Amino acid sequence: MRALLPTLFGITLASADPLTFDTTPLGEKDRPIILRTYVPDPGLDPAVFRNHGKASKSPKYSPNSGRDTKGEYSMLKVIPAAIAVNHGPALSYVWDTTECRLLYAWQGGFLDLYPYWGEKNRGGRRSFDYGARLVGNLFYLAKPIKRERPTFIGYDLSDKGVPTFRYKLGDKEYTEKIIPSDKQYSFISYLDEDKLEYKGDLISKHQGFDRNLKIKSATAKAGEQVFGAYGCIACHSTDGSKGHGPSLKGLAGSTRDIEGGEPVLADAAYLTESIKVPNAKTAKGFPPGYMPPYQLKDKEIESLVLYIQSLAK
Ligand code: HEC
Repeated sequence: MRALLPTLFGITLASADPLTFDTTPLGEKDRPIILRTYVPDPGLDPAVFRNHGKASKSPKYSPNSGRDTKGEYSMLKVIPAAIAVNHGPALSYVWDTTECRLLYAWQGGFLDLYPYWGEKNRGGRRSFDYGARLVGNLFYLAKPIKRERPTFIGYDLSDKGVPTFRYKLGDKEYTEKIIPSDKQYSFISYLDEDKLEYKGDLISKHQGFDRNLKIKSATAKAGEQVFGAYGCIACHSTDGSKGHGPSLKGLAGSTRDIEGGEPVLADAAYLTESIKVPNAKTAKGFPPGYMPPYQLKDKEIESLVLYIQSLAK
């Protein structure tokens, strides 16, 4: 199977690894990926969900007796029936098919599906609290609006795979399309033909699901594990090929050109800072704010630095 993959239908595929459990590779600025799944609520005003049903609790069921038992299940704290869209690190957003509007937008990553889809080695989702987690910097949250109950019609992908959402208010049909802009914390939306550029500020930082890797001592091998667990590979190749971020091959020990600053030596201090505070210095040719904020443990960061150093040659 593996041998067949790289030239499937004459198209050279970037990777011979089949895609399974994660949302890498990400979408592209002009070609998004779309995912329909439970999405997290990153702190929306409950009044935004005026048309959502109130989640009811359901009785617990015993497979042994075949009857309901004491206790209740609570619904997951997630938003169902929404559509998550990713244009690469430039823009991710969630559009809700019940309220028929944009709920929130973020930059720098997409969704971490680990709690729901499980992991490669083990499979299986978490039993509780298995909603997807956000990755990146949240900069837009919808505010409550008063209007009649909308009806979702659907979305079409005729514009090169960029979704145009269609819905009705009363008898009138509306469309909405959202695309990335070149600025940080910003997007462009078309409500019918009306173009609107939204420019916001950082609201909250998200690094996905905490893998709790329990690293005892920092090693390059552990760093490789952290690298895989937190999806760094979505943006950084380790073989020199170009991606959403610079390749990490040959980075350690080299001199880096920095946007609006003096070149710096990529020593351990620079690598550590690049992971802890991605916006401190921006590698030349890349936009700021595209690298997700990671609040990893010290041992995890030390391991990542050792791993990146091992890619120096
Ligand atoms: C969504 C894309 C994305 C992900 C995921 C990501 N990065 Fe980055 N990273 C970038 C971009 C874009 C830059 C360049 C701009 C900057 O310096 O902030 C960068 C810069 C860096 C640099 C400095 C590179 C240089 O050439 O100077 C290091 C080191 C780095 N990232 C490590 C990591 C590690 C480790 C992870 C995972 C824990 C990670 N990145 C995850 C996008 C990403």
